[in-house]
Amino acid sequence: MNTVNPTIKPALKPLAFSVLRLLNDGEFHSGVAIAQKLGVSRASVSNALQGMDEVGVAVHKVHGRGYRLPEPIQWLERDAILKKLGKDAKAFQIEVLETAVSTNSLLLQNTASGTHGILVLATELQTGGRGRRGRQWQSGLGDGLTFSLLWRFQQGAGFLSGLSLAVGVAIMRALESAGIQGAALKWPNDVLFHYQKLAGTLIELQGDMLGPTVAVIGIGINLKLSDSIKAHIDQGVTDVFSITGEMPDRNQLLAILLHELLAVLREFELHGFAPFRKEWVRHHGYENKAVTLHLPDGSSQKGAVHGVAEDGSLLLKTETGNRSFNGGEISLRRTI
Ligand code: BTN
Repeated sequence: MNTVNPTIKPALKPLAFSVLRLLNDGEFHSGVAIAQKLGVSRASVSNALQGMDEVGVAVHKVHGRGYRLPEPIQWLERDAILKKLGKDAKAFQIEVLETAVSTNSLLLQNTASGTHGILVLATELQTGGRGRRGRQWQSGLGDGLTFSLLWRFQQGAGFLSGLSLAVGVAIMRALESAGIQGAALKWPNDVLFHYQKLAGTLIELQGDMLGPTVAVIGIGINLKLSDSIKAHIDQGVTDVFSITGEMPDRNQLLAILLHELLAVLREFELHGFAPFRKEWVRHHGYENKAVTLHLPDGSSQKGAVHGVAEDGSLLLKTETGNRSFNGGEISLRRTI
């Protein structure tokens, strides 16, 4: 979800992750016992557990008993993701980091790597997640999926104009296949549930105008946000837990997403957005709705949404006729 709040949450140190993994059995562990097991001082354990609330993790501390995680963290595991990917596994080179400022930024700095498969970078805690239009993506430790995928296209930026919409189709397919029904798309690439943000995509391109192009496709999905993370978010937001009443298996959901992304991106590189257009429009939560577009030059345009074009442009019926709009800097709002 997006926020304009510029704060970057502090990264947790490796020791904090070790302590959390130890507490993940849901039992009480005394500071002394944790310190002994990890070969550090008690003060270091206590320091490592500072600031957990800021990353959305609740740690119970009870005098005389120690620390306990009331809600265990469901860790991402590379091997589990690969196993769930089955025959698709060989297509990917997956890395899971405990913490990263932004998985998109990291992949953009490493565009030369990933020659042995499609590079995927996922992180348990993203401390400076970026969204469209210079906004931030707020998430806590293990409360969602935050990952990026690097795809090499032979084509240039013009061909890729509908890419973010095609990625939206892949996310919708994945959500449905994971039993998460009722989500909708919002042009160009938000995923909403009852007009509240469930997932977002940030695509960043590197390369020549005529190709080849490296696309870094970053996806954030809210699974179960804590109140402390929600407090940082300045727009309507929701998560999978609120929709289904269950925390999904994160490894399984990531594997399903990668499976659907692989299929969509393979088709996209051959035929562009055209084969996905109808499916996209079927999922558009704003189809035939009165909307206002806020354009990068500060002006706005009112109209009714009338589908999307084969290059991913939004088609609008306006008082002065039909118009089409494209560009990641445009924001769409319902006209109330
Ligand atoms: C948006 O809704 O504006 C797009 C949000 C995209 C967030 C994801 S999380 C993983 C990847 N890394 C980032 O820094 N951003 C994307």
